Amino acid sequence: MTQNTKPLFSPDQKIADEFALSASIVVYPGDCLDLLKSIPDEALQLVITSPPYNIGKEYEKKLDLDLYLEQQAQVIGECVRALSPKGSICWQVGNYVDRGSIIPLDTILYPIFSHLGLRMRNRIVWHFEHGLHCNRRFSGRYETIIWFTKSDEYTFNLDPVRVPQKYPGKKYFKGPKAGQYSSNPLGKNPGDLWIIPNVKSNHVEKTEHPCQFPVELIERLVLSLTNEGDWVLDPFLGTGTSIIAAIRHKRRGAGAETIPKYIELARQRIQQEIAGTLRTRPMDRPVYDPVEAGNSLTVAPWDKDATQMALLEKRPEYGESDK
Ligand SMILES: C[S@@+](CC[C@H](N)C(=O)[O-])C[C@H]1O[C@@H](n2cnc3c(N)ncnc32)[C@H](O)[C@@H]1O
Repeated sequence: MTQNTKPLFSPDQKIADEFALSASIVVYPGDCLDLLKSIPDEALQLVITSPPYNIGKEYEKKLDLDLYLEQQAQVIGECVRALSPKGSICWQVGNYVDRGSIIPLDTILYPIFSHLGLRMRNRIVWHFEHGLHCNRRFSGRYETIIWFTKSDEYTFNLDPVRVPQKYPGKKYFKGPKAGQYSSNPLGKNPGDLWIIPNVKSNHVEKTEHPCQFPVELIERLVLSLTNEGDWVLDPFLGTGTSIIAAIRHKRRGAGAETIPKYIELARQRIQQEIAGTLRTRPMDRPVYDPVEAGNSLTVAPWDKDATQMALLEKRPEYGESDK
């Protein structure tokens, strides 16, 4: 573990476009398999990504599902080769949708990871409140992060990602510790259901990319699954979120992206992060509750009308009884 007190990045930190162990930040403008081939065996501590879901987004060509899985298997195989024995690999996915029928991608990707000998540690449910409204099924409001390790000797730092307890003032009421506080002062384990807003139009991190993940989601994985100075790789980098989360916590970050406008966006956001000017949603901010915030839009106009209509309908009755 490299606990280094000096900042890893200076304001004039270079963003390399090819992988080198001597670099700290790499944005590879091209196919992830080409980047992966240049990474030495066991060099990475964390691979975290959200791959294309094969649903015909602007940056992907919808493939026959078997071909999609074959391509994913090739990338996952290379990631595992480049992963340290203490390392972790996290694949953040949703559903593949075919004529309204869904296949959760984690269920069909799982065999690829297990055949490579990886051990699953968590299937994290990431719940968010905004997305498409479905008419013929319930609207999807979660995706998953499947987390695997290469061995049983893996890095896991719980303390930096603990969250506040519901009842921190609770005490043991019997036994040898009776009267002492029962909860950990650093907070509790965040569990495997993470409620974190997704990056939709009014999110502070929103760019023109259609499927960014929020920086805070990746920060939690970077803090718990790596140590300072470690390498974090995102083979499908998009707007650079994984590298931003990595360098924010003094890790090294690398990623590949094929589409020029997203490569440019990733570089810009990383530069802003280095300069300390990138605006992101803080990790510890509670989810916005519009009712608690007194937002007037939470009052349904049709409910108000319905109440008024009911009153109006009752008036003649009152009038009649008054006579
Ligand atoms: C789901 S998005 C990832 C978004 C990212 N998590 C973020 O926060 O911005 C997947 C990205 O992978 C890129 N991509 C697709 N195939 C690729 C490949 N073979 N190599 C590198 N990038 C690829 C797409 O252009 C797209 O931006």
